[in-house]
Amino acid sequence: MNHSVRKFRTPYELAEKFAGELVLMIKEASELNRPLSVALSGGSTPELLFSVLGDHYSNSAPWEFVHFFWGDERCVPPVSPDSNFGMAFRTLFKKIKIPEKNIHRIYGEQEPVSEAIRYSDLITNSTRKRDDLPVFNIILLGLGEDGHTASIFPGMTHLFNSEKICEVALHPVSHQKRITLTGRIINNADKIRFLVTGKNKAPIIKAILKKDESALNLPASLVVSVNGSIEWLIDSEAGSLL
Ligand code: 6PG
Repeated sequence: MNHSVRKFRTPYELAEKFAGELVLMIKEASELNRPLSVALSGGSTPELLFSVLGDHYSNSAPWEFVHFFWGDERCVPPVSPDSNFGMAFRTLFKKIKIPEKNIHRIYGEQEPVSEAIRYSDLITNSTRKRDDLPVFNIILLGLGEDGHTASIFPGMTHLFNSEKICEVALHPVSHQKRITLTGRIINNADKIRFLVTGKNKAPIIKAILKKDESALNLPASLVVSVNGSIEWLIDSEAGSLL
């Protein structure tokens, strides 16, 4: 499967362009009266996108037509600087008018195994189905230098192929527990969008997009769109080896 890749000069240009596209999708959803389900990624890359949305579109998007979920979350309280929800709240949610019931955070402060079950049930009850699997309209993904995505790290392919909707993962270095969507759910989304910026991601981007032998079994390489589209949005630094 060939990947669609869009390269932007700077991370800001990527964030600005994609923010505008996301807002258009939200407006279409409101015209169709069909709420959009968006699973957010974590880490630092999406922070700029969320800030652009919060700063430039707080009053110009019908936010009540979006339901936000997460592709993964660290098992920490929402006030922790590590919290993916916390970052999205500071950069986006506190700046927009969105019903609290539309923000479906993963309770990082809860016991992980039971929270993975709770969140899986929430997703089952809050999304449409295709092939008996939950479908997100949009899933944002990041990419780690080791080829991980969401919180599925190299060597954890069993989490990618799990029959479950969410699994508990362990960061291989920090041993921090995470809750992550599994690969079947990620691959079932309508629009899968990788956002990758920075020079440090150039080698892994090249390995994955050029389908290097060494990268074929990395979690990010296992992400394929089953019924929709997959697109890599990268900046010139991350794409400097392509
Ligand atoms: C997380 C993520 C993770 C992230 C990558 C890239 O919770 O950390 O979801 O998959 O997207 O590690 O992180 P950066 O954007 O910080 O490089």
